[in-house]
Amino acid sequence: MDILATSKLTPHLKRTQVYPYYAGFSASFVKTLLEYLGVERTDVVLDPWNGSGTTTTVCAENGIQSIGVDINPFMRVVANFKLLQSSIVAQACRTLLECMSSLMDTVPESGPPHKMGAAFTRAALASHSEISQHILHLFVANAVRQIYSRARTRNPTWFSIERISQSLIAKTDLLTALRNEVESTLNKVDILELTSLRTPPRIETANFISWNIPSEVSHVITSPPYLTRLDYVKKTLPELLYLSEFEMIDLGNLRWNMTGSVLTGRLGISKDAFSVSDSETAVDVLDQIEKHSSKASTGYYLKFYGKYLSSMQSSIRNITESSVRSAVFVTQASYYKEIYVDLPKIISEMFQTGGFEEQSRVSFAPTNSMVTVNKGSYASGQLLPNETVSIFEAA
Ligand SMILES: C[S@@+](CC[C@H](N)C(=O)[O-])C[C@H]1O[C@@H](n2cnc3c(N)ncnc32)[C@H](O)[C@@H]1O
Repeated sequence: MDILATSKLTPHLKRTQVYPYYAGFSASFVKTLLEYLGVERTDVVLDPWNGSGTTTTVCAENGIQSIGVDINPFMRVVANFKLLQSSIVAQACRTLLECMSSLMDTVPESGPPHKMGAAFTRAALASHSEISQHILHLFVANAVRQIYSRARTRNPTWFSIERISQSLIAKTDLLTALRNEVESTLNKVDILELTSLRTPPRIETANFISWNIPSEVSHVITSPPYLTRLDYVKKTLPELLYLSEFEMIDLGNLRWNMTGSVLTGRLGISKDAFSVSDSETAVDVLDQIEKHSSKASTGYYLKFYGKYLSSMQSSIRNITESSVRSAVFVTQASYYKEIYVDLPKIISEMFQTGGFEEQSRVSFAPTNSMVTVNKGSYASGQLLPNETVSIFEAA
């Protein structure tokens, strides 16, 4: 297990990322894990919450077959972009810079940023079929995000989908944002986290809870969504609006179905509404929240935690009932008020109920160094490890 400590757990190299995301772990960490677990060419690795695709990118580079699932359709664009070779990205940047102004001829003079961006992409796809659509989607969506971010600072209610869709920009704004995006990518193309692809992965948009794990999958490497009420749909709204010009995306359903969703409206307000029986600790956490004196505890937080934990239980059951032999989860413990939510322990109990054994659990301090966790010290709020790496094996 010591070898894991030699690898940075969380990515710090923002400049090398093609898309800013909550990656959960670094590429070097995944590489170290593949070696540690002894994953072989005949194995198949699954990341059920693949996000920007760190797991699938590293597997591809190391000749290992992999599958990445994420419920957010824009993550498929990012994960696929990262599989491209830097020479291909550089060539596409040069072509786009050359013909950007003429491609803009077909774009209307003004309109909502995501619609204007989509018009540009359609024109580019029609006349430059050699440019991968993942490249166009990522560049144009990043440009659209830049434009919306500027609008957000002027208008704090920007998240309202109606408002966001009504904001209008001039064509020149899109041209400027897109040129910035393509030029900056071209300038740093040699240091980007791209891959020299050896084994292409399968990248899928799906809700993992109801996704059938193929029998060839032998290992899981993943970092599930955090318990921090991070709204991934809200965070990626400009990108999703843009992408919905090309495919059907039900934003409401997406927000509701995400593990860690902040929406709780349709749920009952008893802890019995949630199935978390695979973990005693989860049952106890919900019990404590239900009994908590603050109004918001039963009004909102019981539902939020209950929904997250039952979604985690269904996901873990999906894994333990498949042919997976080992699973690595990177998670974080946290507090709700003074109630300690020991997510690594909850996940461990859920795996054990499913017949898996916890082979090891290592926690990393906020500095990213490995620490020996003294449970007493973090229960008192003194030391809350940043992340915990747990490895489970089928018994
Ligand atoms: C912490 S991020 C994973 C980051 C990833 N390790 C990376 O390299 O970018 C968690 C991901 O889980 C996805 N997610 C949330 N609920 C999901 C579900 N029910 N099924 C599949 N993916 C889901 C989110 O869209 C988010 O991208």
